Amino acid sequence: MPSAPFKNFHTRVIHECQSPENWDGATLPPIYQSSATAHATAESLSDTFGGKTGEHIYMRLTNPTNQVLEQKLASLESGAGAVVMSSGMAAITNACMALLRAGDEFICANSLFMSTYVLFNNIFKKYNISAKMVEAMDSDAIKQAITPKTRFIYIETIGNPKMDVARIQDIAEIAHANGLPLLVDNTLATPYLCRPIELGADVVIHSTTKYLSGHGNATGGVVIDSGKFDWSGERYPDFKPFIDRKGALAYLDKVWREHHINFGTTQAPLHSYLTLLGLDTLALRMERHVANATKVAQFLNTHPAVKWVNYPGLETSPSHQTAKEQFGGLGFGGLLSFGLADQQQCFSFINNLKMIYHLANLGDCKTLVIHPYSSQYLAFAEEIKQDIAITPDLVRLSVGIEGVDDICADLDQALQGLK
Ligand SMILES: Cc1ncc(COP(=O)(O)O)c(C=O)c1O
Repeated sequence: MPSAPFKNFHTRVIHECQSPENWDGATLPPIYQSSATAHATAESLSDTFGGKTGEHIYMRLTNPTNQVLEQKLASLESGAGAVVMSSGMAAITNACMALLRAGDEFICANSLFMSTYVLFNNIFKKYNISAKMVEAMDSDAIKQAITPKTRFIYIETIGNPKMDVARIQDIAEIAHANGLPLLVDNTLATPYLCRPIELGADVVIHSTTKYLSGHGNATGGVVIDSGKFDWSGERYPDFKPFIDRKGALAYLDKVWREHHINFGTTQAPLHSYLTLLGLDTLALRMERHVANATKVAQFLNTHPAVKWVNYPGLETSPSHQTAKEQFGGLGFGGLLSFGLADQQQCFSFINNLKMIYHLANLGDCKTLVIHPYSSQYLAFAEEIKQDIAITPDLVRLSVGIEGVDDICADLDQALQGLK
């Protein structure tokens, strides 16, 4: 069944890339739970290894269930192709490794998800690769950081946990004027709020573990290629064989062929299935996440026990105007942070909560809370925590889709009971 060109994102998430005629009439694809596929003849397997048939060989390389999710995510993000992987970190690692050689540099935002920060600062450093961290909202700083060794620019649509929103279009223009691609981690915004490729980004990455699957039951990641970047420039001599083989999809081929299949960062087909199931309600959930987060931010902002609130939806946020324009007035995401007096109060608050789950995740339909300073960032040096604004008084809240009155009531009783 060919996909009709639906205008409404609520329809697109449900009906795009559906093909029940290939799934015995089922409305979601079967879970192909097989490590390898049988071939009738020696010639057929040899042809498939030679790239002549498009058939499957071994599930570390491709899987039919995963391919449905790849097509759907590429389509929702206005990309030309995608590869799904075992986690968001697998996607980030492969997306960057495909571009990097020892001695290279790249430019990235200084407010990045914790494991991305570790990968960029600690692990890449071992291979003499240097991440130049800059303020993502400062276009001049980005321009000044570019050198002949720079291979790409990397940002998050909404920085986790700083909640800063950079102008993707401006950064893409700077990148392209210097022959560089822009990579965007769109996990916190999702294609419901923002489609970075439409704003000029060249590669989009997601942790599908979060809003895309939406129920805290499937781990995964994806790399989506716009197919628009010209990799024949002088900065990318190593792209020649991939351009010869795949043309516009040279980058995705490099990610897949050189890294994904050899690093073995395979997505389990069950997790692709669960992510496809979750995607059916992405637009509906995001609408509610955004509406609830806005009300919760306003509630916290006027609460006497709360010292400050960081949410791009508040007019006081330095990201408010950019987010308003860039997200087309659809909202500001479901994640926020706020401050209490100190770490002890944060612990007391979390321990008082009755409904809200205390765990290290975000983007679940349930409301989730964490004290990042003493958990995800526990092993970070004090000066780095200060640098990236992870302070002892900070609580991070991933606002879910429950009734907002119940969320606020739980927050309120926990704040009232502070010791
Ligand atoms: C913005 C962002 N990118 C990437 C990741 C990593 O995703 P995963 O946990 O699926 O590896 C996370 C995880 O929280 C995240 O918040």
